[in-house]
Formats: sequence, C-alpha cells, structure tokens
Amino acid sequence: MATDILDVAGVNVAFGGIRALSDVSLRVPERSVTAVIGPNGAGKTTLFNVISGFYRAQSGNVMFAGADLLSQPAHTRSGVGISRTFQNIALFPGMTVAENIKLGAHAQLRANLFSAMLYLGSAASEERAIERRIDETVMTLLGLEEFRDSSVSGLPYGTQKRIELARALISQPRLLMLDEPFAGLPTAEKAKMAGQIRKVVAETSVTVLLIDHDMESIMNMSDQVVVLNFGQVIAAGTPGKVQADPAVIEAYLGAEE
Ligand SMILES: Nc1ncnc2c1ncn2[C@@H]1O[C@H](COP(=O)(O)OP(=O)(O)OP(=O)(O)O)[C@@H](O)[C@H]1O
Ligand SMILES: [Mg+2]
Repeated sequence: MATDILDVAGVNVAFGGIRALSDVSLRVPERSVTAVIGPNGAGKTTLFNVISGFYRAQSGNVMFAGADLLSQPAHTRSGVGISRTFQNIALFPGMTVAENIKLGAHAQLRANLFSAMLYLGSAASEERAIERRIDETVMTLLGLEEFRDSSVSGLPYGTQKRIELARALISQPRLLMLDEPFAGLPTAEKAKMAGQIRKVVAETSVTVLLIDHDMESIMNMSDQVVVLNFGQVIAAGTPGKVQADPAVIEAYLGAEE
C-alpha cells in the first residue's frame, strides 16, 4: 500500500449561512491520481482553496507529507511542494510560453501573479537553472517545444491548458492540484490531456489531485474518485465502485433536474 501524502480530516468551511464543506475527510495516496467530482457548488474548489491556504477552515486538519498544513500561511505551499492550476486560465497572454512557465518557478500559488513578475530579474544562476529545467523537462514532457518563444495569446485553448500544467510543474511539486483540466477541451484534446497527466505522474512521481466534471476522462484516468455533494463526501473509492454507488447516481440525477 502506498502511503498517503495528503490527509484531509473533518474540514468545515462556511460562508455566512452556506456550509461549503461539512466534515470533509479524504486521503490521497502518494503517486496516485485522485479526482474530486460533484455537482456545481458542491464545494470542490473550496476544498482546493483550503488546501492552498486561500480559504481558512473553521475546523479540521490537513496533513501534507506528515506536516500540519493549515497552521502554515498560503505563501509557503510552494516551498512544501504543492502547486496548482486554476479553474479559469490564468496565463499572461502577452508573454511567451517559456516566460509564463518561468513564473511558476518563482511564485506558485500567488493569488496575484503580477507579484511573481517582480521576481523575474532575480539571481542569474538560478535563472539559468530554471531555464534548463523548462527546456529539458517540462517542454518535452508536455510537447511544448515548438511553442517555446511564441506569445501565449494566439495559441489554442488546449495548448494554453498544457502551458498552465507546465507552469505548475516547474516548481517540482510533490502534489499537483488541477482545477478542471478538461473544461472547454474538445474530446480529442481531453484524451491527450489525460494521457499527459498520467505521463507526468509516471515520470516525475508527482501526486495529482484534480477536479473535473468530465466523467469519461475522470473514470478512465483516476485511481481514486471522491464525490462531494452539498459540501459532504458521499462516496470515495475506485472509479468502478463510485460509478455504481446509488448515492452518487442519485446526486447526479438530482443535479440534472
Ligand atoms: N468566497 C466565497 N464567498 C462566499 N461563498 C462562497 C465562496 N467560495 C465558494 N462559495 C460558496 O461555496 C459553495 C461551494 O462553492 P465551490 O466553488 O467550492 O463549488 P464547486 O464544487 O467548485 O462548483 P463548480 O463545479 O461550479 O466549480 C457554493 O455555494 C459557493 O457559492
Ligand atoms: Mg469549482
């Protein structure tokens, strides 16, 4: 059995009268792909924001690699080895692909990436090491070489999603959190993205925690699926087990009405 790199226990988050997360617990085995699914407003992004330190939990614990995460401020997440992408693309359109990726080395998880730009001129030797990592690892891993010096603005949406993934990987995280990596992608691109995420796990030993609505992609690529509904975990297990769970079927049928 793999050890759990992330252990979320009894997390509660409320916004005014809305209980966004109610006693949420889940474990993420090291080097796995764990997907969090659930209808709109179920609390998926809120869970990511708690782990990232953007939102404060009213109660509960999050242990990451044996350390208590919630007692540490958000800006330390990159240092402990956690990086993420956002539900909406957050790249700088006027900058090149390589420049955008480079920002991730300096400032994963900064809510405002402009602050990261201030770091672009830092120590030359560190810059060279980062440049090498961009060229030798993430570009090849994600097949972005041909776009290296292109400005992001003209690139197709699917390519931009891969650039975001690359930016999250450049800091060499142990845990990579992806908020809706398949959203807005055409079917062929979804399969490609799923394949690339699995490839990243296989080749870098990163652990992936992702959110998405695309059932086919999720069920094909995940080791574990956790289902949230109205802020509560209603099921967790292998894709096959979760798909057959009556509470899950009920939650999704209810959401379609
Ligand atoms: N900053 C906030 N202030 C107030 N309410 C919030 C805030 N963030 C989230 N919520 C509320 O918490 C609940 C869960 O929202 P969340 O964004 O986590 O859902 P989600 O599962 O990511 O949904 P989606 O699939 O639409 O992205 C919703 O009722 C939402 O309105
Ligand atoms: Mg969300």
